[in-house]
Amino acid sequence: MTTRPPIAMLAELTHRCPLSCPYCSNPLELTRKESELDTATWCSVFTQAADLGVLQLHLSGGEPASRRDLTELVAAAHDAGLYTNLITSGIGLSEKRLAELDGAGLDHVQLSLQGTNAQMADMIGGYRGGFDRKMKVAEWIGAIGFPLTLNAVLHRRNLHQLPRAIEMAVEMGARRIEVATVQFHGWAMKNRGAMMPTRAQAAEADGIVAEARKRLKGRLVIDYVPADYHSDYPKRCMGGWGSTGLNVNPEGRVLPCHAAETIPHLQFDNVKERPLHDIWYHGSAFEAYRGTDWMQEPCRSCERKTVDFGGCRCQAMAITGDPAATDPVCIKSPERDALRGMTDEFAGDEDAPLTYRVLS
Ligand code: SF4
Ligand code: FES
Repeated sequence: MTTRPPIAMLAELTHRCPLSCPYCSNPLELTRKESELDTATWCSVFTQAADLGVLQLHLSGGEPASRRDLTELVAAAHDAGLYTNLITSGIGLSEKRLAELDGAGLDHVQLSLQGTNAQMADMIGGYRGGFDRKMKVAEWIGAIGFPLTLNAVLHRRNLHQLPRAIEMAVEMGARRIEVATVQFHGWAMKNRGAMMPTRAQAAEADGIVAEARKRLKGRLVIDYVPADYHSDYPKRCMGGWGSTGLNVNPEGRVLPCHAAETIPHLQFDNVKERPLHDIWYHGSAFEAYRGTDWMQEPCRSCERKTVDFGGCRCQAMAITGDPAATDPVCIKSPERDALRGMTDEFAGDEDAPLTYRVLS
């Protein structure tokens, strides 16, 4: 299989964040400020990414607004010819800062939503006043005219708010809403008991999304990440390992996906030591699960193997201990029944407390 250039790059500018969402997919060991890449190195990475063929740059974190040099970074990415998307909770953005980002060439904003009212949003984000601030930021985003995607992260505690989240996206003038049922990676793994949707919630969400897609056709695009553990087939994680996208973490390590560091045998190159082009085409972590040659049964002989590429390597690692195993979400996986049992147990754990993300 020929390796093509990546389409998208996720730059995790920092792990610092004013919120402490229990569903955070950042790793358990967060990068401290002192170890983050400096401005000049990030700017070089953006130029290298554009040269490599990357079209879209997602600026993420943590909270990317925690970086003081965010405007400078956006300007560098814009000058390199990248389409820039800021993935933010809104906390840390002011009207003035948004205007500066607009001036620097920011193309798009993706605003996260922890809940549709202050009570839910502030409880999930662990940040009092966060919801009201976010609503203000949404107004400023609208006034400047940034194309907006609302990113509603849903789980057992707030899935009943899905219809209102969709309404809010329409009211805010968003072009798109990402209805993202929580994916259990990184910190979120600690909260499977507290956040796992029930089977009934997952089915209801499917219906709400299907109805809203019909009703809002032409007005709002709804991207939907269903409740993974309740699905019959796994997600095509990262569009296939090492095929369409790459992540650069705050320290400069280049990862095939945001959770790749949970796979213990992989070695990751750093942009401080190796050119991005070389890492993408020849880095051992990228080569590890690219294409289909690495697959075991049942994936190896499955007709869907180039549809979902065997699902998520990190999920296979987390649940089976073998990153080359079939994603246990799949109905063909020998681990599937065990996963189903575990899912129902998590979903029924009424007493599980939320464990908030902390920088230890
Ligand atoms: Fe996908 Fe593997 Fe399941 Fe086939 S067996 S559907 S390739 S995860
Ligand atoms: Fe790593 Fe899915 S999160 S492959």
